[in-house]
Amino acid sequence: MKRITLLLLSILVACSQPARDNRPKNHFTPPVGWMNDPNGLVWKNGEWHLFYQAYPDDVHWGPMHWGHAVSTDLIHWEHLPLALCPDEMGAIFSGSAVVDHDNTAGFGKDAIIAIYTINHEDPHYQKQCIAYSTDDGRTFTKWAGNPVLEADIPDFRDPKVSWNDRAGEWIMSVASGQEIRFYGSPNLKDWEFRGRFGESYGAHGGLWECPDLFELDTPDGGRKSVLLVNINPGGIFGGSATQYFIGEFDGRTFIPDEPVPTRWMDYGKDHYATVTWNDAPDGRRVALAWMSNWQYANNIPTGSWRNMMSYPRDLSLVPSEDGGCLLASAPSPEVTAARGRKLLEKEFSLDGDKTFRFRSEQAYEIRLGISDPKGDTVGISLENEEGQRCVVTVDYSGKRVIFNRKDSGRTDFHNDFPSETFCALPKGDADLRLLVDKYSVELFVDGGTYVMTNLVFPDSPYDTIRLEGHAGNVDVRIDAM
Ligand code: FRU
Repeated sequence: MKRITLLLLSILVACSQPARDNRPKNHFTPPVGWMNDPNGLVWKNGEWHLFYQAYPDDVHWGPMHWGHAVSTDLIHWEHLPLALCPDEMGAIFSGSAVVDHDNTAGFGKDAIIAIYTINHEDPHYQKQCIAYSTDDGRTFTKWAGNPVLEADIPDFRDPKVSWNDRAGEWIMSVASGQEIRFYGSPNLKDWEFRGRFGESYGAHGGLWECPDLFELDTPDGGRKSVLLVNINPGGIFGGSATQYFIGEFDGRTFIPDEPVPTRWMDYGKDHYATVTWNDAPDGRRVALAWMSNWQYANNIPTGSWRNMMSYPRDLSLVPSEDGGCLLASAPSPEVTAARGRKLLEKEFSLDGDKTFRFRSEQAYEIRLGISDPKGDTVGISLENEEGQRCVVTVDYSGKRVIFNRKDSGRTDFHNDFPSETFCALPKGDADLRLLVDKYSVELFVDGGTYVMTNLVFPDSPYDTIRLEGHAGNVDVRIDAM
């Protein structure tokens, strides 16, 4: 009944307003109801599959399903029917998907196999299961031999599976309390414990969730393993966040490079459950995050649908100041290709205050170079007619970039929403890229070496940029997206 009401509501909304009016322009949202983590990210035959945690019957988290959409360009998505629904074994929690190129599981060559957690409340258990699709993900059959893996701990979930050449088998990373356990299998059905990682590394202020393990080239021509570990609560600015580790997966377990302070993939408040696509073409490693935070995900003011995904990001390793590597996330080339008409282009020396108004758009990109700074800070304020603003401060003395959304629009739906986040400023000249899309600002510093993703709920689009401070040269370019 609730589902029908919500559907009617969304049809009514769709008919009475300009199309997609209450949605971001380029970010993925569920057709109706609730959404959290991206699941089952896999590329096959030109299609990027996005499965996701869905509860279509309400705009609050509930019994989880896997929603499904596909895209050929990572920006425009076609909604498909729900892929997996709860049954007597439990609700369908997060997981991953692989293309079984060699038919190791026996469901057919090139079948898509989903590996997911079932969550049962009473009695409580979490177990790993598989389902297969022989029609490119359009329909799935749960395997009759489920579950394929269980353990005697309450929090045992979010299996990420991919083929590992070094191990010569499928490797599953599973979030297990506050560590990641690794399992190996020749056929996706029989799994054996291989190793564990986590104790005394990284942040431990909450549960470890949604791991991902993959390799990337290093700047000096080598190759390293990267382990993403999402954590909630205990994120850098409270609630949810994604940490990462760089090291080596030796076929059984993850061995981190020298212990370093916890490294965060994103320094905003709204970047969680980040995972990457299996089988992405051209050796790319493309990540997607749920653009929300469990602190207030159930409260954000969006209407008949709730929560958005981030823009997709291509990952790479870049040199860090201490001689090691950092994981950089740059907007994927498909995001750059979505650039539309020019809204503003200016170059000037900043001596005090400068304000520019530009054509009001829901989605746009700001590229901003500041060189030869004079003074401690340069402030960049994005403002709308209502006087709502979010403020980015390049803090040269503190070597930080700060994002403040305390006056950004509607903030009173939850106490944890009004906030300030910050990341490092890697070098003297600031190179910033801001992607704004109705309810979000994704700020990339220095090509993605540091990123801050934050939601904002202004009553109308920010259409004014104000710069304050002193600098020899400022170069600003704004394009619609
Ligand atoms: C992360 C998470 C996962 C779980 C899913 C349930 O946001 O808590 O650990 O599988 O959401 O919806």
